[in-house]
Amino acid sequence: MRMVDLIQKKRDGFSLTKKEIDFIVGGFTGGAIPDYQMSAFLMAVYFQGMDMQENTYLTMAMVNSGDIMDLSGIQGIKVDKHSTGGVGDKTSLIVGPLAAAAGVPVAKISGRGLGHTGGTIDKLESIEGFHVELSREEFVEQVNRYKIAIVSQTGNLTPADKKLYALRDVTATVNSIPLIASSIMSKKIASGADAIVLDVKVGSGAFMKTLPDARKLAKTMVQISKGLNKKTIAIITDMCQPLGYEVGNANEVKEAIEVLNGRGEAGLVKVCLTVAAHMTVAGGIYADFKRAYNALAEMLSGGEAMYKFEQFIRAQGGRAAVVNNPDLLPQAQNNMEVKSDAAGYVQSIAADAVGTAAMLLGAGRKIKDEQIDNAAGISLKRKVGDEVRPGDVLAVLHSNRTINPQISQMLSQSFVIGPRRPEEVPVVYDVIE
Ligand code: URA
Repeated sequence: MRMVDLIQKKRDGFSLTKKEIDFIVGGFTGGAIPDYQMSAFLMAVYFQGMDMQENTYLTMAMVNSGDIMDLSGIQGIKVDKHSTGGVGDKTSLIVGPLAAAAGVPVAKISGRGLGHTGGTIDKLESIEGFHVELSREEFVEQVNRYKIAIVSQTGNLTPADKKLYALRDVTATVNSIPLIASSIMSKKIASGADAIVLDVKVGSGAFMKTLPDARKLAKTMVQISKGLNKKTIAIITDMCQPLGYEVGNANEVKEAIEVLNGRGEAGLVKVCLTVAAHMTVAGGIYADFKRAYNALAEMLSGGEAMYKFEQFIRAQGGRAAVVNNPDLLPQAQNNMEVKSDAAGYVQSIAADAVGTAAMLLGAGRKIKDEQIDNAAGISLKRKVGDEVRPGDVLAVLHSNRTINPQISQMLSQSFVIGPRRPEEVPVVYDVIE
């Protein structure tokens, strides 16, 4: 088999066989297929797409490129949750403890942020002492004991995805539905859960900018999992503005604590309850979504979810006192207000620009392995639909670096203000089972 023939076959719109896809993924992961040929192949997939069968072969080839987590030592139906990535997306910090408080074993492997989107592991590391690495035995024991553990990816899970993602990032091939679907599903399948709830984001801060594209990605992932006998549900949620009010690592932990104390912003609470409710139904705890949603809402207001969050932080070595005193989280030395110079109503907030501004303040990485500032971030003071007058504070920037006025300008430009209150858009668009 020759890679050049397979590139040509895909370029001309033909479907590849399992043997051919295994050859490509194995050859690239092992180093026999060079980056320039793989780049050409990725671009061919970008333009020609893949059928369901090819997409499933690609997913499994990526799963089989490394180890598969053995979570058989964990009692109960293990349910994982994955977001396709957004700005201010702290849902894992909330739905993890919430689903665990209801009795679902949450054995979660999370990532770090890159570019304008954040990552759960960076957020957890803003809690002093929190360990994001556990041995497999510790991980299994903690989930059996407390129903929740969240760790960073270690070892040799899906090395093909790691290598492919880095290449996609520099060849303008990230935004491809079959490539995103295989990337996400391969990691979820390799991390060993019995059921998966996907939070597919749509809007300016997401990879999928339109609802039809988000639906297509959601359906593709659900169908891949169906072919592999893994129960998967995809929920399409809004990312036309940052989720909640806080963006940045310590900031987002602070807001998660607010939600777990029953005081969260309505849209964020709705997304979290929807995701967690589907997790508990998939985990066999509740018979139906409505019952699950209502019971979980009571766990938020009753403090059970917060108690679980505190237990989880302590179990992984973190300073659990932060739940009662969020001021113990890292605080930035420099804080700059961004004010409105217009009157009207907020029409939109470009989530990708807010994410990029937060990254430039130090909350994220421009390049892999860059040191981040846990205290850096943005507190939004106005959201879409709110009224503003000239001089009102739209947002506060936080950083331990000197704040470049260009970042303030970028933030100010991310707000579109118009004369009439915009129509409300849903925070949850659709659920695909
Ligand atoms: N998240 C992933 O894990 N992979 C992608 O390709 C896109 C988002």
